[in-house]
This record gives sequence, C-alpha cells and structure tokens, in this order.
Amino acid sequence: MAFKIVILGSGKGSNARAILEAEATQKLGEVQTAAVLSDIQDAPILELAASFGKPFHSISSGKKRARLSDEETRLFVEKIKSYNPDLIVLAGFMRIINQDFIEAFEGKIINLHPSLLPHFPGIRSIEKAFESSMKTTGCTVHWVTPALDAGPIIGQQSVSIDPSDSLESLTQKVHEAEHLLLPEVILGLSTGAIKFTKE
Ligand code: GAR
Repeated sequence: MAFKIVILGSGKGSNARAILEAEATQKLGEVQTAAVLSDIQDAPILELAASFGKPFHSISSGKKRARLSDEETRLFVEKIKSYNPDLIVLAGFMRIINQDFIEAFEGKIINLHPSLLPHFPGIRSIEKAFESSMKTTGCTVHWVTPALDAGPIIGQQSVSIDPSDSLESLTQKVHEAEHLLLPEVILGLSTGAIKFTKE
C-alpha cells in the first residue's frame, strides 16, 4: 500500500528533488509524493513538483512573516488533509508552524534542519557552525513539536568542518548529506524500520 507524503518547502527544493528522484527511480519502496505545497507563490520547488508530474499548491498571504498566520494555517491544514498523507515532510519550509497545525497531524510531521541539533537551531545554521570552533556539523531530521527545532531526533548525518573549507564548500557538503539523510528517513518510516513516536 502506498505510503503517502506531502512535502512543504519555501525555496529551491533540492531536498524535494532528492525525494522525487529516489521515488522515480524506485528507491523509495511504497513512498508516494502526493503533493508539494509552498508558502511562496513562485518558489522553484513548485516548478520542480510540476516537472515530476506532482500536484502543487501555494498558500501565501504575500506577507513575509516568520510564522504562518491563523488563516494560512487553516488553509494549509485543509489542503494537506485533502491528500490524507501518512507523513508531512518539511523540506526547507521557512515558516514556523503553530500548535493548531501540529495538532492536526500529531506525530506525523518531520523537519529537516542543516545542523547537528541541538547545536545551531533557527536560521543561518551552516554559517554559525562554520564560524564556530567546532570540527563537525551536519544535518538532522526530527519530529516537529511546538518548540522550534527541538523535537525528538530521528536521524542525523555528520559532516567534517575542514581547515580548507569555505562557507560555500561546507554548505555544499551539508546539502549533500541532507539529500541522502531525508530520503533514507522517509523510507525507514514507510517500512516501519523507524517507528512513529505515537505508535
Ligand atoms: C535545507 O538546507 C534545509 O535543511 C533548510 O533549508 C534548506 C532547504 O534547501 N531548512 C531550514 O533551515 C529549516 N529551518 P532546499 O530548498 O534546496 O531543499
């Protein structure tokens, strides 16, 4: 039986591409991307969805805010529910979702973050790791809870910060790690190899 996911993103969609390519090349088992949603009307992630023949929608108030408004929340929840997904994947979704959103899909929302949480939550995480004295950073997939970037960790992939690294090369390494980690976690959840917290 298909394991349906809905992907939410705000930008380029390189992680959505990693998922869609893995799915298209039969590397994701029963995983089926049901739709891609964005808070940005002309986000490249929506064009990407179209190029893979997937339904896509933008829900935008046109205002740049850190948090989704109540009305945007209502519209996102309604749209996502119409696809009845098993999992909601935040892949570069740059808006904070509120309690109502989280409760509507309790225990079914995962987020990708470009650091080894609990280090460097919030924004500019790769930059902060690069500027720190740490020798390792990476990426994390975690369950979404009301506390920002602080839900239970599902998987992490580390990346070394080498003396020869520039911010650009480190960013590239973190993204490459993300493109492997996120599809791997989704596959694990679809097969039961990784358990849902609510089970
Ligand atoms: C990714 O690096 C992801 O970890 C980050 O946004 C990027 C999206 O790239 N997410 C966050 O910072 C969430 N707080 P993409 O659009 O190319 O997939």
